[in-house]
Amino acid sequence: MFDDSTVNVGVLKERAYNLRWATVPEGVIPLTAADPDFPSAPEIAESLTKFIKDRYLCYGPPDGLPQFKESVSQFFRQKRNVPANPAYTMPVDSAAFGIYVICKAFLGKGDEAIIFNPVDFLFKYSVETVGAIAIPYSIPSGKESVDFTEIEALITPKTKMICLCNPLNPTGKVFSAEELNVLGTIAVKHNLIILSDEIWSDIVFQPFCYTSIASLDEAIRQQTIIVTGYSKSYGLAGLRIGSILAFNQAHFDKVFQASLHQSTVHGANVLGQIAVTTALNECGYWLEGFISHLQKMRDLCVAELSSSKGVSIIPPQGCYVAFADITGTGKTSAEIHAYLLETAKVAIVPGLPQWFGSEAEGYIRLSFATSNEILSNALYHIKTALNNL
Ligand SMILES: Cc1ncc(COP(=O)(O)O)c(C=O)c1O
Repeated sequence: MFDDSTVNVGVLKERAYNLRWATVPEGVIPLTAADPDFPSAPEIAESLTKFIKDRYLCYGPPDGLPQFKESVSQFFRQKRNVPANPAYTMPVDSAAFGIYVICKAFLGKGDEAIIFNPVDFLFKYSVETVGAIAIPYSIPSGKESVDFTEIEALITPKTKMICLCNPLNPTGKVFSAEELNVLGTIAVKHNLIILSDEIWSDIVFQPFCYTSIASLDEAIRQQTIIVTGYSKSYGLAGLRIGSILAFNQAHFDKVFQASLHQSTVHGANVLGQIAVTTALNECGYWLEGFISHLQKMRDLCVAELSSSKGVSIIPPQGCYVAFADITGTGKTSAEIHAYLLETAKVAIVPGLPQWFGSEAEGYIRLSFATSNEILSNALYHIKTALNNL
């Protein structure tokens, strides 16, 4: 399933946008935006084909197809030890939109939300788009254990939310139950919403284990809104589909209202919901195979990058991205990005503030969700280029 021959670069060049194959010059390997180079599980194509064959593509319920709500909440009950209720579970047209909807529901103009630094740009973007202020909390790459009591120093009367990204894109940190318990207890004490982005929660490497903050206790759960998506685990980015889970009626109502689904101005299309229902109900075997392939790609990436001149890297605990420290090259992230594109013909994401926050400078991020052949080739060229610097 994850052999070299599975990756169809010809199709990717026509369809893979967002900084990837369809957007880079001929001959360049894009280890950029993090979604897989592998085609999605065959069961997903079969269920979509079956659904489309009837030729009825009607409006769905604004709060989601019943089978979608049931399979997503069942996944959280069975795999995440979170007592999710289908009535408080809804689809959104991507995790990215879900983050925005949660910010819109719980933040007003001038409110403050704590976000990690470095972290994916979507948090700052969404917080600021609804008129609130993003307050960065530093979690440097390689920090063994995070003492979230420090976050209390950032809390003011205006603080309304903490944005948790677990596992943390781009550093790959997976937070332990103990760390999350401290964070959750602070959120309860200060009555803060925890926006828990769990899109990377399937992609965790041994011996690390994923804990959802909503599994810890009822008080913490009542402060939490989960957002998740299916672009990373199942390669469904183009379907633009994600989920939001709330844990009480009042929170669900706020999120649902902010989503604009009731008015049909926004909505999650039914094909995405069918695909996710099939992925969660039938494609566990595919995900297991994908994770075991990724574990090997992670090891390859770490071995090759750490033996490249001027680079050091801490193996990611989760996420299929390598966040490599390039300060030893004497160049900036932007310079290394330009140099690798020109010399190695590999596109990576530079650690610029607009992608990951101020603490990403001195780093580059590479996605390794590709075949052994493509990754080995890219890493060979990166290493050669860096050794010639
Ligand atoms: C932490 C995090 N949240 C959300 C997203 C967006 O996912 P989606 O494709 O569902 O919008 C990403 C994608 O890179 C991500 O890394």
